[in-house]
Amino acid sequence: MTTIDFTAPAFDGDGPVEPLAGNVRFGAATAAFQVEGATHADGRGESIWDRFCRTPGKVANGDTGDVACEHYRRWEADLDLMAALGLETYRFSIAWPRVMPTGRGPVNAAGLRFYRDLAEGLLARGIEPIATLYHWDLPQALQDDGGWGARDTALRFAEYAAACGAALGDVVSQWITHNEPWVVAFQGHAHGTKAPGIRDWPTAIAASHHLLLSHGLATQALRAAVGAHAEIGITLNLAPIHAAGPGEDHAGAARRMDGHLNRWFLDPVLRGHYPDDMLDHYERAVAAGRLVDQRNGDLPVIAEPTDFLGVNYYNPQRVFAAPENGPLALRHAPAPPPTTAMGWEVDPGGLHELLLRVRRDYGPVPVYITENGASFDDPPEAAGLVEDAQRTAYVRGHLEALARAVADGVDVRRYCVWSLLDNFEWEHGYDKRFGIVHVDYRTQRRAPKRSALWYRDFIAWMRRLRG
Ligand code: FCB
Repeated sequence: MTTIDFTAPAFDGDGPVEPLAGNVRFGAATAAFQVEGATHADGRGESIWDRFCRTPGKVANGDTGDVACEHYRRWEADLDLMAALGLETYRFSIAWPRVMPTGRGPVNAAGLRFYRDLAEGLLARGIEPIATLYHWDLPQALQDDGGWGARDTALRFAEYAAACGAALGDVVSQWITHNEPWVVAFQGHAHGTKAPGIRDWPTAIAASHHLLLSHGLATQALRAAVGAHAEIGITLNLAPIHAAGPGEDHAGAARRMDGHLNRWFLDPVLRGHYPDDMLDHYERAVAAGRLVDQRNGDLPVIAEPTDFLGVNYYNPQRVFAAPENGPLALRHAPAPPPTTAMGWEVDPGGLHELLLRVRRDYGPVPVYITENGASFDDPPEAAGLVEDAQRTAYVRGHLEALARAVADGVDVRRYCVWSLLDNFEWEHGYDKRFGIVHVDYRTQRRAPKRSALWYRDFIAWMRRLRG
């Protein structure tokens, strides 16, 4: 293994984070399309993100995923980097179009091989692999047949899940079906800001239902393929929602946004039904002919028991009532400072609030924080290091909030910072940097940021506390 020479320890060992030393394993997350590059290698098929990147005006600077961080070729060095940081767990995603280039039919052994090598390489370095099956890169051939707007895609996803389980079940025991189905359904099919770039609310509602159904079907298929020892969950992007003004109208808007973002996904997965106050959206999608109502059969599948809930937390949201504005009749208020380079509010307390709410309303479900992190306009690299004080403070603040949640009884088992590397940030292209490790896209050189060194020392400290 190559040794990576980092500079002096950066963790000062104070801060009320001891409760985290109990059951939490620490790591980092990435996603296939954001880091791998090599979009034509070894028989990979086209994905909706390849197509979206090539649609003029959709992605900043016309950036694409063709090269990204070249992780597909540099994965061994990247694993050495993870080992040098002392990561205990690594969340990556499997690209469906590598495994099944047209989304269905025989598996592409060369594509699967990459993920086997990766998982074996992680295990050899003592790092736990967590595999996400879907981080937004649908095979374009399935999109051509209706994508997530079509029920059939859910059945294809279950076949893909079974193939991944059969091929990798001996080296991967942590599985996530979907990453952020809200983003896939609504940013992809209502706002049109992400692939496939559709703008139609009833289609987005149908997509959300098919995504949820596919989660349940894939959970069943994975269990059958991998066996009882596998731990399976879904990752949701959740946020506390606040009314941006006083009075019942704004409080109502906050309830609608909460129903839309949080309960629309939590309720079916953990309680087996859609929230009553949001059901009219489902019914209108049925009336519009986008969805065939098979709720009675589907909901028990969607509620198939899982082993953990993956939570991605970045920021809370603030909304005003706006009767004329869209199907939810609300508008987002500008985020109060401090904000990140994405314009997202920095509020570590929101993580504590969110986790306590999930436990209060849904019971003691084990939680994996599958993403948390921040993009800032980092200063340039100097002497091989990027001084990203703001990101370090962000991560530290959220770990302290997480420790309070654990002390208050929330069963947290993983924490993955987003992201290991600077990478392709979807419609923002390479402009937004979330990595704790800096990537020079001209040379592909990786340089640690201060946050990576801080995190390395934090993990080492947690290890010492565990004894
Ligand atoms: C999440 C995505 C992840 C990354 C972060 C910043 O919504 O899951 O891929 O883009 O946001």
